[in-house]
Amino acid sequence: MNEGRSPEARPGPEAGGDGPEIGVGPWEGPLPEGAEYDPELLAHGDRRNVVDRYRYWTVDAIVADLDTRRHPFHVAIENWQHDLNIGSIVRTANAFNAAAVHIVGRRRWNRRGAMVTDRYQHVAHHETIADLAAWARIHSLPVVAADNLPGAVPVDEAELPRACVLLFGQEGPGLSPEALAAADLHVEIRQFGSTRSINAAAAAAIVMHEWVRRWAV
Ligand SMILES: C[S@@+](CC[C@H](N)C(=O)[O-])C[C@H]1O[C@@H](n2cnc3c(N)ncnc32)[C@H](O)[C@@H]1O
Repeated sequence: MNEGRSPEARPGPEAGGDGPEIGVGPWEGPLPEGAEYDPELLAHGDRRNVVDRYRYWTVDAIVADLDTRRHPFHVAIENWQHDLNIGSIVRTANAFNAAAVHIVGRRRWNRRGAMVTDRYQHVAHHETIADLAAWARIHSLPVVAADNLPGAVPVDEAELPRACVLLFGQEGPGLSPEALAAADLHVEIRQFGSTRSINAAAAAAIVMHEWVRRWAV
């Protein structure tokens, strides 16, 4: 029986508390058994932004566990202009446990907004929209393009497929004509104000949450 314990994490200054840092300190008491535990984290503490279930686990063990229950939706984002939103989209995809994120266009993407969540998220790359579309066809995944364009169905009314690729454009140009042509379904988020569109990362979060609301058990 494991008699050790994970010390309680006190909220740090960033959360208005008097605790020193987020996360937990070194493991106290007899060490837990199991290949999922990282000896370094047990010895020195785990300050990562992970849910408590994964405290002291290795990255590989966390990814393996997420893989057992990933959702069947994928997220794709066009990356022709090094869009800063991509990191944030990866982080949200990780939070909702998406099957994978697909970067289309430039291979390099700005990881800052991901806050290292890309370690836990499968991220694939496709040179072109045609490559992404071919990949989606092979895997029988309809492509759902999200943009505020004429003819798009409000996402809250759309028949959002369970297994699919949710495709987003980038700040400025939005979805490319190739991306729109490759889509099986066009959806939009209803807007009521004066701005033409919302931020791409915010839009991706809303559409992913709509998928989760419909399909996640
Ligand atoms: C800032 S928008 C730019 C383009 C937009 N078509 C325009 O007219 O301004 C960047 C991306 O965010 C997503 N997006 C922004 N607002 C959206 C909305 N109302 N509905 C669906 N997607 C949206 C789309 O994927 C879009 O390509």
